[in-house]
Amino acid sequence: MSIIKKFKNKITLDKYINLALYNEQDGYYEKKGIFGKSGDFITSPYISSIFGEIIAVWILDQFINKKIYNFSILEIGAGEGYLAKDILNTFEKFKNIKFKFNYVICEKSNFYKKQQKNKLYRFNIKWINNIKNFKKKNCIVLSNELIDAFPIKQLFKNNNAWYEKYVKLNSKLNKFEFVDVKIKKSHQVFKKIYPLKKLNFIEYEPDIENFVKNISNILKFDSNNIFITFDYGYNSRDFKNTIQALYKHKNANILTNIGNVDITHLVNFYYIKKLFQLNKINNINYHTQSEFLINSGINIRLNQVIKYTKNKENQKKLYLSVERLISKNKMGELFKVLIASKN
Ligand SMILES: C[S@@+](CC[C@H](N)C(=O)[O-])C[C@H]1O[C@@H](n2cnc3c(N)ncnc32)[C@H](O)[C@@H]1O
Repeated sequence: MSIIKKFKNKITLDKYINLALYNEQDGYYEKKGIFGKSGDFITSPYISSIFGEIIAVWILDQFINKKIYNFSILEIGAGEGYLAKDILNTFEKFKNIKFKFNYVICEKSNFYKKQQKNKLYRFNIKWINNIKNFKKKNCIVLSNELIDAFPIKQLFKNNNAWYEKYVKLNSKLNKFEFVDVKIKKSHQVFKKIYPLKKLNFIEYEPDIENFVKNISNILKFDSNNIFITFDYGYNSRDFKNTIQALYKHKNANILTNIGNVDITHLVNFYYIKKLFQLNKINNINYHTQSEFLINSGINIRLNQVIKYTKNKENQKKLYLSVERLISKNKMGELFKVLIASKN
């Protein structure tokens, strides 16, 4: 892989992940075939289009209840565009309500941006490169499995000194290995959130601070703006060591087969909630995916669809796919939904 040639010295874990996932030549997210059954991992929109339908109805509910009939959606990290397609198809079904909307996508990968443009050609969508200057009223900012795809750093304490995980190339063996490097300054933001003395390990996304700041600015721009994000993760003051590589739905080695394996982690929602609060966003709701989807009517929708599905085998498939999204020992509990707004 070309990034191997770029390696002269050791680099931090997040820089390594960023190269492995996003380098334009042969990064993991610049390749096809990573999603779905035949790929490396599966996300909710691939399991059932009912996931997108429920989100579409939830979005409509947010605005129509307030008698707002003109709104925007900004989706960040849209992958192959399945969620967008399901949401837009669902909007088209509501012929008796007159509403207008803009659908905007911000996507980091050039390859997936192209895929989205192909898949969503019949819809009126705008792509933007950066959310920093995004200013719209009546707007939902939406993402599914975005933050777990952000590169992460790992820091840990040993004998009262802090160390950071780096990756270096062992040129003799021609393979990558981890090295721990003593760091002088621990990162400022943690001091604002945690008494550092009580922490021994930190795994976080260095891009998250800016990301939450940008989202908070969008939320502060209009009290009707709402951020909703779905991801796997946990809610705990203490950070966990959750980094993992995935290849064909199985755990893989983070340091080998670079560019062909996904490198991901569980999101610490406690930390993200704290970051929103630092940005003066205090209206934050946090649910399991199961709670959110059930409260938003997924079982009612499932029964409707089953009623119109004649074939018993297809009925069973529908039932099992929704069960996978909501059941406690599948995606229902591990996946969380964070919803934030100004008021
Ligand atoms: C795990 S995939 C999820 C794709 C899709 N949302 C789904 O549920 O199938 C993560 C997506 O986020 C994109 N991405 C990662 N970091 C991003 C960023 N900072 N801004 C925009 N997109 C990003 C990736 O390129 C990829 O399309």
